[in-house]
Amino acid sequence: MDDLGIQIEQAVQTIRKKWNRDACIGLILGTGLGTFVDHIEDAVTIPFSDIPHFCKSTALGHVGQLVCGQLENTPVIAMQGRFHFYEGYTLQQITFPVRVFKAMGISLLIVTSASGGMNPQHQPGQLIVIDDHINLMGDNPLAGFNDDSLGPRYPDMSQPYDAELIEKALQLARKQNIPAQRGVYVGVKGPNYETRAEYRFFRTIGGDVVGMSTVPETLVAVHSGLRVLGLSTVTNVCLPDALQPVTGEDVIEVANRASRDMTTIIRGIIKEESPSQTNR
Ligand code: HPA
Repeated sequence: MDDLGIQIEQAVQTIRKKWNRDACIGLILGTGLGTFVDHIEDAVTIPFSDIPHFCKSTALGHVGQLVCGQLENTPVIAMQGRFHFYEGYTLQQITFPVRVFKAMGISLLIVTSASGGMNPQHQPGQLIVIDDHINLMGDNPLAGFNDDSLGPRYPDMSQPYDAELIEKALQLARKQNIPAQRGVYVGVKGPNYETRAEYRFFRTIGGDVVGMSTVPETLVAVHSGLRVLGLSTVTNVCLPDALQPVTGEDVIEVANRASRDMTTIIRGIIKEESPSQTNR
């Protein structure tokens, strides 16, 4: 086993000492969704600092622990807070938890985030079901040595976000009167928000929203053979000709307000994907 394989095994063993179950669904809870874990039943909480090879979470509003338990009769494992490239970690470090989730048995990863909305139809608080992404982080978590036992050297990215789950999420939103749209997520390193010229550029190249996460985790999830659902809340509208200044606190406030809608969609998806629900 190579180094990464050993590190994954060490992290899994530590988690299994406290929660010895196989998980079905993994969740990476970004800005505004920290309290989502309150819905998890029989919850076992493990600080990231107790898990070998996990980084420390330093981002504003990100707690930094793993919460394992049951949601909608489904065993889930959730990161309450995530790691970002702008915190100074490598993309391999940031995405290590995805490898661990895969080894804990998940087949679906739900990734949430906050983002800036560049599509003129966007309103603050609106939900985006990520349809595709553009990697402008200037790096790739899959670069370097490839462990063929974890995934292929050249993974396909023709449909990184699961088409069936995108439809399901949009349908759930429609049923609940939650404003939601599909969109292309542009991933950047951060930590600054963008200039007018950058927002204009990202819109021109096909982006609907821009954010500082999601892309590395999705790349590793796809490499690992996982299905991915990406959900993002538009926290600030970024129209270059009428751009308003924005702060991290503004972003958190809007993301917190929109968390109810995001929670409804995630719970709905987990319920539909529950192994007890289907005959798969
Ligand atoms: N840009 C990048 N990341 C973000 C933004 C933004 O405007 N809003 C929330 N996260």
